[in-house]
Amino acid sequence: MAELIVALDVQTREEAVAAVKRIGDSVGFYKIGLELYTAEGPDVVKAVRDLGKKVFLDLKFHDIPRTVERAVRSGGKLGVDLMTIHSVGGKAMIAAAKAAALEFGEAAPKILAVTVLTSLDQTDLEDVGITGRTPAGQVEAMARFATANGADGLVCSPREVGNLSAILPKGTLFITPGVRPAGADVGDQKRIATPADAVRDGSTHLVVGRPIMAAADPAAAARAILAEIAGCR
Ligand code: C5P
Repeated sequence: MAELIVALDVQTREEAVAAVKRIGDSVGFYKIGLELYTAEGPDVVKAVRDLGKKVFLDLKFHDIPRTVERAVRSGGKLGVDLMTIHSVGGKAMIAAAKAAALEFGEAAPKILAVTVLTSLDQTDLEDVGITGRTPAGQVEAMARFATANGADGLVCSPREVGNLSAILPKGTLFITPGVRPAGADVGDQKRIATPADAVRDGSTHLVVGRPIMAAADPAAAARAILAEIAGCR
């Protein structure tokens, strides 16, 4: 069954710990991204792990292979379950990330590749020299490239996951942000889907932030999304 990951988009360790405690037992997986990690560092990862939760460390590594390998090793030592890299870092970088993860055996973090940031459109791609492909074509090409070179899965929009899950090997992980329960505030997300749609299209992990974190009762909001996911089986 697809797993729910709550995005801990807060600025301090205290807020993060309070949110995890408030949401309670129903959610076992949290995403720590650049904002919180840059503010609080590994201590916040340890704090969330100490509460018995799994961690998706979303730092989107993109550097020379040796540096990424060593960064993934550091993440593995922190006990994180999922980590992100940019697929445009190239073959050797993706392979180095995967090799470092595998050093942790059963506890190996899964390596997820970002294909094309959802903030980029055709003109943005052309600006950085990616011509002759639509954003969707580039997403597909990079998804094939990343998984062929060792990535365990992809971060993708719920609008892309149907196509990608049809063309990529079974067992590939699909992590989809941009999920909104029917009737929820969309915020700044443009290409959204409901939890049920995302799961039906092949999403293995749903990342949800504001619909839970900003809810009057975050635990109830999380339970409602979990019920929707469970209804898809
Ligand atoms: O609050 P919301 O549910 O929109 O949060 C979604 C989370 O997923 C945020 O942490 C956001 O940075 C992240 N994300 C995203 N879209 C992407 C990649 C990551 O919304 N394409």
